[in-house]
Parts: sequence; structure tokens; C-alpha cells
Amino acid sequence: MTTVSLTINGRAVSAWAEPRMHLADFIRETQTLTGTHLGCEHGVCGACTVLVDGVPVRSCITYTVACGGASVTTIEGLDEDEIGKELRAAFTREHALQCGYCTPGMLISARDLVVRAEAPSEQDIRVAMSGNLCRCTGYVGIIRAIQSVIGDRRARGISAIPGAGRSVLGPAGSGHGQAIVASASGAASMVSVSFQTVGDESLADWQPQASFDQSFSVNHAIDEVWNFFADTAAVASCLPGASLSGDTRAHNVSGKMRLKVGPITAEFHGAAQIDRDPATYSGTIQGSGRDQRSSSATRGMIRFRLLSQGQAATKVELNVGYRLTGPLAQFSRSDLIHDIASRIIAVFAQNVEARLSGTGRATPAAELNAGGLFFSVLADRITSRIRRLFRMLTRQKRT
Ligand code: FES
Ligand code: FES
Repeated sequence: MTTVSLTINGRAVSAWAEPRMHLADFIRETQTLTGTHLGCEHGVCGACTVLVDGVPVRSCITYTVACGGASVTTIEGLDEDEIGKELRAAFTREHALQCGYCTPGMLISARDLVVRAEAPSEQDIRVAMSGNLCRCTGYVGIIRAIQSVIGDRRARGISAIPGAGRSVLGPAGSGHGQAIVASASGAASMVSVSFQTVGDESLADWQPQASFDQSFSVNHAIDEVWNFFADTAAVASCLPGASLSGDTRAHNVSGKMRLKVGPITAEFHGAAQIDRDPATYSGTIQGSGRDQRSSSATRGMIRFRLLSQGQAATKVELNVGYRLTGPLAQFSRSDLIHDIASRIIAVFAQNVEARLSGTGRATPAAELNAGGLFFSVLADRITSRIRRLFRMLTRQKRT
């Protein structure tokens, strides 16, 4: 245990904290400030967002012991805050909440945007709020509420403060952190992430951020499946949201993938290189893409292998490795990606089976709704945990 001293909502606080205790638990359990909500506890949903030294952070992935000396503002600390009041009124007016679970985190992130963005477009607001998920209201009212507060304030002559007046950047948003990147002029500078297209980096050098194995079977002979996989355009049409451009018979192909995650619709444009070895019925697809609007980039490699399972069945084994950078990387927690990928691959397998059987659709789905998949994965997990708990309680009752 360590004693941590910090300021919460303007009040000096000193309390014991385990080294592993995250800031949200510290705020809720030692200070009884329960307006900070916990949803995923993995830094994905944004429900736990608070301000640390004026910067929005996810308190579920911020260690309390890293916040010594910091100034923390929770939703309770915005009770008398002018922007907080304007946002609450706008959220009410625009019907921007139903259950309200996401609302404290939404208001904290929205306040930061109101302070620093002069005249953001609807898309800018969607991108800026993409770290906060709402699963019952939808985003139209939320975006409209934020836009109206910004519009009103600018009309009243209140300008944005570039960078919200911050002079330092640090881990978890705390200006007390060590990793401040400062230029010779003293101004803080952002660390930029560069994006490389296929061919810039050799496969031997490239390391995936995460990888997983998947497999599926189709009821067709191995040569039939192998020949189908040689038709890149046909394969792409089985993948929801994917489409190709240019010569689809070439070794290098280009195209795009449209997907929807929460309030963001992203369109990754990129290229892929396909290598096939007929002798072993195996190969690799390595590709990279970039979404201009969210500045997210991805790079990945799929190793595939076909295994004959008799005269009319083939198993397709896949090993998928990927890297995701930019705002959409917040959805890249490996087990969630794995679950979502399992569902995408299940849809892909169904489409391949349908195409090989001659019953498939000619038009692929125009968009991959990863947000919908994300929530259905979460819902399935919650349901299975409740079932497990129920079974455990029933067993305990019997003994
Ligand atoms: S609870 Fe912290 S991001 Fe979801
Ligand atoms: S209002 Fe219910 S989750 Fe957003």
C-alpha cells in the first residue's frame, strides 16, 4: 500500500492505494464519487473518463499511484462549471441520453472539445468523441448537443483555447508524468506515427501487435477451393465491406474496406500483396491501409493453408497478424478483435460456401458493422457470465 496525495475536484486528498488500484476505483471507493462509471474496464468504452491536469483520461487504465500531485476533475467537479452546465442543458434539450450510463464520460470528453475546438465539423466531433461509446441513445443527439454548445459560445465571442492551454503532455494525460516531449523552443510536441505501405518494410522485420489462429471448413474439394481463392475479386466479395479496384488478377491488388465502429465510419484504402504456393496449398496476404478521416492505419498479414478433408471437404487454416494505429486502435484489445474476427470469418465462410455452391449473392455487404459486432460480443460475454454465475449459485444451493 502507498499513500497517494492528489487533488480531486479542488479538494486535497490523501489515501492509501494498492499499486494495482486504478484511478476509477480510487475515486469511487475511497472518495464515494460514483459519478465516474465503469463499463468495460479495458480502456475501450470511455464511461470512466475524468480530467487529469485538464486532460481527459480513462481512469480504468490509469494507476492511482501514477497520479500523485495531479489535479483530477470528475463529473461531480463540473456541477458549477459553466461549460458543464451548458452541456447538461444541451444534452437534455437534444435528448442525448437515455440510461445515462455513458453520460458522465461523454460530458467530460465533450467539455474538453468545447474548450479547444474553434469550429469543428460534425465529422470532427464524431472523431473527437469516438473514444466514448453509447449503447442506447445513438449519437445524433449527442453530436447535435455538443455542436450547439460550441456554436452558442463562439456566437457569444468566446473563442477556443488552442490545445486547451496545455503546455505539457504526459502519460495518462498527467502533466506530472515523465514522458514529456519538448522542443528546443519549450513547446510540447506530439509524437507522430508514420505509416508504411506494402513493400516499405520487409516481412522479416515486421512484427504484428497481435495475432491469432482461425479455421473454417467448406464442403468442396481442395482444388475447387484453391481455384476459387485465386479469384481475388470473388474472395473480396465474400468479405463484408471489402471492394477491390484495378487489376484484380494481379499479384498486387488495391482496394478499400469500409467499416463502422461506434460513431465512426472508416474507409481504409490500401494495397495487398498475395503470394500463393500451389505445391503446399498455402500462401500469404500482406496488406496495409489508411483511413484519411480518422488518421487510423492498419497493417496485417494473413497466412493461409488448405487441408483436404476427403473428396468434398476442405479445411481453411488462417493465421492473422495485425497492427492498428490511430483513434481506431482503441478497439484493438486482442481478445475483442479475436472475437470480432471469428464472427467476420464465420460470415466469410458462409459466403464462400454459398459462392462455391452457386447460391451466393452477387453484391457484397457495403459496410462492416464492427461496432454492432463489438456490442454483440460484449452482450454474449455478459450473458455467458450471468449463466455461469447462475449455475454456480444453483450448485451452491444444492450442496
Ligand atoms: S470503463 Fe474505462 S474505458 Fe470503459
Ligand atoms: S445513454 Fe445509455 S449508454 Fe449512453
